[in-house]
Amino acid sequence: MATRSKLVAGNWKMHGGLMQNQDLLKEIIAGTVGLREVHIAVCVPYPYLSQAQLLLQDTHVYWGAQNVSYYAQGAYTGEVSAAMLVDFRCRYVIVGHSERRASYGEDSATVALKFNAAQAAGLTPILCVGETLAQRESAVTEQVVAEQLDAVIESEGINALAKSVIAYEPVWAIGTGKTATPAQAQDVHAFIRDRIAAHDLEVAASLKILYGGSVKANNAQELFGMPDIDGGLIGGASLIANEFITICRAAKN
Ligand code: 13P
Repeated sequence: MATRSKLVAGNWKMHGGLMQNQDLLKEIIAGTVGLREVHIAVCVPYPYLSQAQLLLQDTHVYWGAQNVSYYAQGAYTGEVSAAMLVDFRCRYVIVGHSERRASYGEDSATVALKFNAAQAAGLTPILCVGETLAQRESAVTEQVVAEQLDAVIESEGINALAKSVIAYEPVWAIGTGKTATPAQAQDVHAFIRDRIAAHDLEVAASLKILYGGSVKANNAQELFGMPDIDGGLIGGASLIANEFITICRAAKN
């Protein structure tokens, strides 16, 4: 069986400022130094990519963005291409976050195009999937996650998944303080891994599947202890140095 290293990625969403970012990043670097077996990343708003690059290059902390255009270039006002993210040495880019699916009309086909654009440029996409509360209550969680996952598998092929990260983020747990229980999260993570295993066992065994949704310092360890949870995608708690550092440490096996 492949041993998967853990990844803890912060999703700053639309938060930050030059001064506070500097303090936060410096604290994260200092607080996680020596944590070799855990991969750490921060996904920052576009305007701060240059600052992230400046402060994080030559450290153990990776950086990335939260969205990407599926176009390479052209008259697309307000969009940012994958090549531009590569210019700032991003390693990761989040695609298909539920906030983008819900508020910016990104459907699974759009997300697949973004996944493709990211990978073609050499970025590692972090593909977000997850159900709403209404969907969970109607017992269609697996169908919803399967549809989101299959759209990418069908358009990109299973091998593309090998060079990506999946994040299971139940919408009802995002920003609500209501975390999925470790067992609830594990169930969906196992479902995702099994679905990928049906195409390719090796890809399934090596793929990192992160959990996201109200991960905090006080619940991270229990979540990360589950067999199919390979780290976390952290929103609110990634903006607080001590919280984020503790979460990174919790990912140490
Ligand atoms: P919170 O950790 O704030 O719930 O956000 C999770 C998330 O959406 C990460 O992408």
